[in-house]
This record gives sequence, C-alpha cells and structure tokens, in this order.
Amino acid sequence: MRMILIGPPGAGKGTQAARLVERYHIPHISSGEMLRAAVAEGTELGKTADGFMKAGQLVPDDVVIGMVIERIGKPDSEGGFMLDGFPRTRPQAEALDIALERAGVALDSVLLIEVPDDLILERITGRRSDPQTGKVYHVKFNPPPAEAAGRVVQRSDDTEQAFGARLSKYHSETAPIIPFYDAKGLLRRVDGNAAPDQVTERILHALG
Ligand code: AP5
Ligand code: MG
Repeated sequence: MRMILIGPPGAGKGTQAARLVERYHIPHISSGEMLRAAVAEGTELGKTADGFMKAGQLVPDDVVIGMVIERIGKPDSEGGFMLDGFPRTRPQAEALDIALERAGVALDSVLLIEVPDDLILERITGRRSDPQTGKVYHVKFNPPPAEAAGRVVQRSDDTEQAFGARLSKYHSETAPIIPFYDAKGLLRRVDGNAAPDQVTERILHALG
C-alpha cells in the first residue's frame, strides 16, 4: 500500500496515520516529524528548517523533496509507505511522481481528511505530545494518561499566530494539489469532523 495523507493542519493526519500503519504494516513517513527531529538534532537541515516552521511557513521545496525521496528509497519502504504531510506543493507532487516512476511503482491512494477551518484551531492549541513515546494527545479530546501528563510538551508552531500562517499556506500551496490527484483517479475524500474512531472507520470504508 502506497498512500498519501493530505489535510489542513490539525485535520488528524498523524492520529490516523498511526492507526493505519499498524493495520497495513508500512512505515509512517511524516515530513513534519522528520523536520522536527532534524531541528532537535541541530543538523544543517534542521537549522534551515527551524525558522520556517516556527513562523508557520513551508520549508523550501529543495530541502524537503530530497529528504523525503531519500527516505522512501530505504528498504523498509519497498513494500509500501504512508506519507503524511508530503507532498504539500505542486513541485513536491511532481518530484514524487518522477521518483516513483523511476522506481517502477505507483501510488494506490491519496486520502484527503477534510475538517472545516473554524474547528481546527482548538485541535491545534490543545495538542500535546509525549517526547518519550512520540504519542500525540489533546487536552480535551484525548487527554494524556496520568503517567505521561507531567512530561507532555506543546509544539513550537502550535500557537494561534503560526497556525494562521499554516492554514493560509495550506489553502494557497497544498489545496491546489488536490485536483492533481483527483485527475489521476487516486483521491479519496473523508470527512474528518468526528471522533477519531469514526474517522478511522470512514477511511477504511473509503479505501475499500
Ligand atoms: P506537519 O507536522 O506536517 O504539520 P501540519 O500539516 O500542520 O499538521 P499537524 O501535524 O499540525 O496536524 P495533523 O493533521 O497531523 O493532526 P494531529 O493528528 O496531530 O508540518 C509542520 C511544519 O513542518 C509545516 O508547517 C512546515 O513548516 C514544515 N513542513 C512539513 N512538511 C513539509 C513539506 N512537505 N513541505 C514544506 N514544509 C513542510 O491532530 C491534531 C490534534 O487534534 C491532536 O491533539 C489530536 O489528538 C487531535 N485530534 C486528532 N483527530 C481528532 C478528532 N477526530 N477529533 C478531535 N480531536 C482530534
Ligand atoms: Mg501531524
């Protein structure tokens, strides 16, 4: 299974990806997680990405494309992968197409998780993650268990200000790739405005 997850910030891409990769036994490849790891490690790539991410801007295509294409070329991605947050610009989508064609493989589906703009700010500002396990929680919708509650942290771009920039980048840069995949017959739309379990059911139904 070779899949892409698209959706606005806070749509539930990471939450759903974590469930789907267990079912399909494929790696979860989140460009955002890879970039946050690079920032934490202080690599050159991380230093370049940090300012863009904090401001809610997209990291330049040439940085992200190389990083993700290299990742999907690793042996664990041979049987499939779940891309979360990549591609999110037209040049990224085209670069992915070329890389897959060269490798002689094709995408199976592109899943779009749709959530109205006015509902996602609360998801973003309430998100917390556990640095030890990588698990993602929400103060109201999915509170962390007692043993993790003391150590959960907030992402540096989960501020109201950066969120505004992220949402506007989603509409201007990422939404235009939706018709690109629709024209290829790969797009599956899922209404993400429901409890996580219900969204998972909708996704499995959409994937047939
Ligand atoms: P990235 O990490 O990809 O962030 P994003 O796209 O903004 O998406 P999020 O991770 O914020 O949301 P999500 O959809 O995963 O939601 P989640 O499941 O966590 O990118 C971050 C930054 O990195 C970008 O801004 C950019 O700078 C850079 N970057 C990354 N990729 C790039 C690329 N390809 N090109 C250029 N730059 C790139 O859920 C959110 C919260 O809601 C959680 O608290 C969760 O518990 C809760 N929740 C989830 N589902 C539900 C539900 N159904 N009901 C209620 N609450 C829910
Ligand atoms: Mg995410």
